[in-house]
Amino acid sequence: MLSLDFKSGWNYAPATEDTKHIQLKEQYDLFIDGRFEKPEKGKYFSTINPSNEEHLAKVALADTADVNKAVKAARAAYTNVWSKMPAAERGKYLFRIARLMQERARELAVIETMDGGKPIRESRDIDIPLAANHFFYYAGWADKLQYAFPNRKPQPIGVAGQIIPWNFPLLMAAWKIAPALATGNTVVLKPAETTPLTALKLAEIIQESELPHGVVNIITGAGATGAALVNHPDINKIAFTGSTDVGKLIQKSIAGTPKKLTLELGGKAANIIFEDAPIDQAVEGIINGIFFNQGHVCCAGSRLFIQEGVADIVIRKLKDRMETLIVGNPLDKNTDIGAINSKNQLETINKYLKIGKDEGAELFQSSCDIPKKGFFCRPTLFLNASQSHRIVQEEIFGPVLAVQTFRTVEEVIEKANNTPYGLSAGVWTDKGSKIFNLTTKMRAGVVWANTFNKFDPASPFGGYKESGFGREGGLHGLSAYLNME
Ligand code: NAI
Ligand code: MG
Repeated sequence: MLSLDFKSGWNYAPATEDTKHIQLKEQYDLFIDGRFEKPEKGKYFSTINPSNEEHLAKVALADTADVNKAVKAARAAYTNVWSKMPAAERGKYLFRIARLMQERARELAVIETMDGGKPIRESRDIDIPLAANHFFYYAGWADKLQYAFPNRKPQPIGVAGQIIPWNFPLLMAAWKIAPALATGNTVVLKPAETTPLTALKLAEIIQESELPHGVVNIITGAGATGAALVNHPDINKIAFTGSTDVGKLIQKSIAGTPKKLTLELGGKAANIIFEDAPIDQAVEGIINGIFFNQGHVCCAGSRLFIQEGVADIVIRKLKDRMETLIVGNPLDKNTDIGAINSKNQLETINKYLKIGKDEGAELFQSSCDIPKKGFFCRPTLFLNASQSHRIVQEEIFGPVLAVQTFRTVEEVIEKANNTPYGLSAGVWTDKGSKIFNLTTKMRAGVVWANTFNKFDPASPFGGYKESGFGREGGLHGLSAYLNME
C-alpha cells in the first residue's frame, strides 16, 4: 500500500518477511569431520540481530585444540578420500550442495538478514542466489581442470584454511569453499564472529549432501580462532577476506613457511561520472555503489568524482534520491538500507563522520527517521572533500560517500589511483573510447562501466596494492587452489 505523506513524501506500509519458518537452535557446535562437536573448553559466544540487538543463538568458541581437530579431519579426508575421488564425482557433490542451497534459499536469506542486518531484498536477490551459483559454476569445472590449464598438470594444494568477514557471510563461504573443493582440496572455514549462522546452516546442508566427512569443516570464533588456523603447521593455504590490518598480520605470520596465501582486503573505489554520462542512471549507480549493503562492501563506490559541468545537477539529484531511501528494519521488503553489522562498526563509521566534519568537508545526511534500537546510520555525503582528507583515503565501510569534482580525464585518473587501495572502480560515460582509456589506466581489479557492484561467478575479482592479491571467481579462482607445473 502506498500513501502520500506531504511532509516526508511517499510512505509504504510495512511488508515484513515472515520469520515463523526459521528454526534456529539455541546452541551451535563446531562442524568437524561431518559432525557437530562441542568445543573442547565448552565455551560459547552470542550472535545477535544488529537491527534490534536481540540474542539469536549461542555459538561455539573454537580454540587451538578444536582447530587441531578440524585440520586433522581435513587432512585425513584429503589424503584418504577427496584427492583420490574421480573429479566428476567431486563435481556431483558440489551440484548437490548448490541445489540444496536453492531449496533452502528463503530460510538462508532470512537468517542472513537477521544475523547480519542486511536488507532482505539483498540477501534474497543477491547473496543467496549468487552463493548457490558459485557452487554450480565450480561444480562444472571439477572434471575439466586439464582443459582450464592445458599442459600444466593441475594438482590440488591440500588443506586450505579460509577466513571470511561479515559483510557477505554465505556468499564469502561459497567463494571460498566451492573452488577449493572443485580443485580437490579440503577446507577448514572460519566465519566472522558476528555472522556465523548461515555458515552453520551450510554445514547442515553439507551433511544432507552426504559430502564425505572432513572435506568441509566449519569452526566458529573470533580473531584468536582465525590466528590459530593461520598458524597451524599442517595448513597448505590460507585464503582470507577482511581488513587490511589483519591481512598484513597474516602475511607476516606465514612468512617463511611454504603456505600459499590469497588476500582480499579493503577498498576505496572511485565512481567517476563524466559530463556525457546518462545522469539518472549514474545517480542510481552511485546510490547502489555506496548505500548497497550499508556500504559494507569492500568494492563500494565510496569516492565520487563528478566532472565539473554536471556537478550541480548530479549532487541535486543524488540528494533528492537519498531522501527517498528507506532506512530501517532489514526484514521489511521496502527497506533500502538495513542495520550496520555491529556496534563496533557503527562506532568506526561515527568516528569517520566526525573526522570528515573536522577536516572541513560539508556533511549532508538524509532527513529520514532511524530506529531507536539497533545499529543504524543515515546515508551520508561529504561534499567538497579533498584528496588529503582521511575520509577520502581510508576505508570507512559504511554508507558514507566522499564527493570531489574534476575537469580532465588525466586529472581524474591520477586522483582515482591516489589511494593505498585498488580493488574496484566505476566509470559513467557515453563514450566507449573513454571507458577503454580509463580501464587500462585505473589500478583496480574490477572496473565497472555504466553499472556498479555487478557480480558473476565466471568473473574474477581481486585487488591491486593494499587491496590484496590473488583472484577469486572465474578461471583465475581455480588457479588459487592448484599447484601447476
Ligand atoms: P577483520 O579483518 O578483523 O575480520 C575479518 C575476519 O578475520 C573475521 O572472521 C575475524 O574473526 C578474522 N580475524 C580477526 N583477526 C584475525 C587474526 N589475527 N588472524 C586471523 N583471523 C582474524 O575485520 P573487522 O574488524 O570485522 O572490520 C574492520 C574493518 O575491516 C572494517 O571497518 C572494514 O574497513 C574492513 N573489512 C573489510 C572487509 C572486506 O570485505 N574486504 C570485510 C570486513 C571488514
Ligand atoms: Mg549476528
